[in-house]
Amino acid sequence: MSALLQKLMDGKKASEKLLAQLRNELAALQAAGKPRPQLVVLLVGEDPASQVYTRRKAKVARDIGMASELLIFPADYPQADLLARIAELNADGAVHGILVQLPLPGHIDEKAVLNAVDPAKDVDGFHPVNLGRMLSGDLPPALPCTPSGIMTLLEEHGVAIAGKHAVVIGRSTIVGKPMGLLLLQANATVTFCHSRTQNLAEVCRTADILVAAIGIPRKITADYVKPGAVVIDVGINRTDDGSLVGDVDFESVSPVASLITPVPGGVGPMTIATLMANTLALYHARG
Ligand code: GUN
Repeated sequence: MSALLQKLMDGKKASEKLLAQLRNELAALQAAGKPRPQLVVLLVGEDPASQVYTRRKAKVARDIGMASELLIFPADYPQADLLARIAELNADGAVHGILVQLPLPGHIDEKAVLNAVDPAKDVDGFHPVNLGRMLSGDLPPALPCTPSGIMTLLEEHGVAIAGKHAVVIGRSTIVGKPMGLLLLQANATVTFCHSRTQNLAEVCRTADILVAAIGIPRKITADYVKPGAVVIDVGINRTDDGSLVGDVDFESVSPVASLITPVPGGVGPMTIATLMANTLALYHARG
């Protein structure tokens, strides 16, 4: 195997393994005559990237034998109507997981929407009750999909976390904050960096595990990385020529890192597979 291949954290492969397990579990439920777990994804507006992601989420769910529905609303859909739809889904016993794709259009109060999802159906783990449970260490059945998928990928590659210095660049509720909490829960020493961090490269160079979730194409070059570090790239940036690049400059960083996620084929597939696992976890948690 080439030196580079040995360093790759192949999210596609790890996600296929997880999806195969879930497919078996779903088949067993069906064979036992149990109701089918259902995921409902809501998208407001026409953001092209969000359209691609939500369609993929609904399709993967169907592919593994889960019931799934994608509800698409126009960009000017009133907040009150969206809240009413969520209330209907909360009341529908056939629905186990509800995901509202973020970001939402500017006229909609994101917090009000996330608050409206029944915490027991909150497949993203973004409801304040579930975020609070994560903070207190009383982990809910569904943890935010991207950070949770990254933890699975680290585990899959035998990365030791306890006592290591993990640096997370980004402080969103979707990725950065929960990522730091999960690494802390796994006994890492955690540093959060963000747009106001001084001497970013210097701080990053102290990381044993570096997670980049900043949304700036190829921002993290070799001079941000300690030799032997594990580098996780959460970025999905589309370049002018239409190709996808991460927040990490793969070409310069891969010779320095001991393990690195590619874009595409790293974190992205893990996020989707984790979403499926979360839906099933909520199904089982309902009992
Ligand atoms: N937008 C980007 N990532 C995510 C995610 O994990 N969940 C939701 N709901 N929206 C997102």
